[in-house]
Amino acid sequence: MSGKVDVFISSEKIEERLAQLGQQITSDYGNKKLVVICILKGAFIFCSDLIRYIKTPLKMEFIKVSSYGDDTKSSGHVKFELDVSESLNDKDVLIVEDIVDSGLTMKELINHVRSHKPSSVKVASLLLKPENLTHEVKVDYVGFSIPNKFVIGYGLDYAGHYRELPYIGVWNADS
Ligand code: IMP
Ligand code: MG
Repeated sequence: MSGKVDVFISSEKIEERLAQLGQQITSDYGNKKLVVICILKGAFIFCSDLIRYIKTPLKMEFIKVSSYGDDTKSSGHVKFELDVSESLNDKDVLIVEDIVDSGLTMKELINHVRSHKPSSVKVASLLLKPENLTHEVKVDYVGFSIPNKFVIGYGLDYAGHYRELPYIGVWNADS
């Protein structure tokens, strides 16, 4: 693959937005005991940065799903590879994801979490591609709405690579 990665959303912009999201989440949940579920692998950086802006007491859980193979196309089904380790019954749950694209992954995640009978379920996603959304999901906290571009960095990958970039980048094939 020839070309280079262009900065699409800078680390400064990401940090600024995370501070706003953290404030909003803190004021929505107050002193409730929140359970934050980080969706691996993609959300690991976003989630760890975001929780440092949340002042509501919280516990962390992790779910790992895979829906993509080695490229940019969805395989069309979601596989659960790791699940929560404590009961979500009667808990206020916030699912933290890197990106909602077609919404398939999030729809399955919400159904899965709801089957544990939590008292509430909300979703925070760093990115949302509204043009691609074909499944009915509500994203309560959106970092950035973006056009239909394939993005990498800040946790997001292309075939497992580029997660370590401190910004959100887009592939520029022309340079
Ligand atoms: P969905 O099920 O179609 O909503 O896809 C969601 C998953 O696809 C995300 O959790 C990502 O892992 C992956 N994904 C979708 N768009 C992108 C992108 O632009 N860059 C990297 N991964 C993406
Ligand atoms: Mg993902």
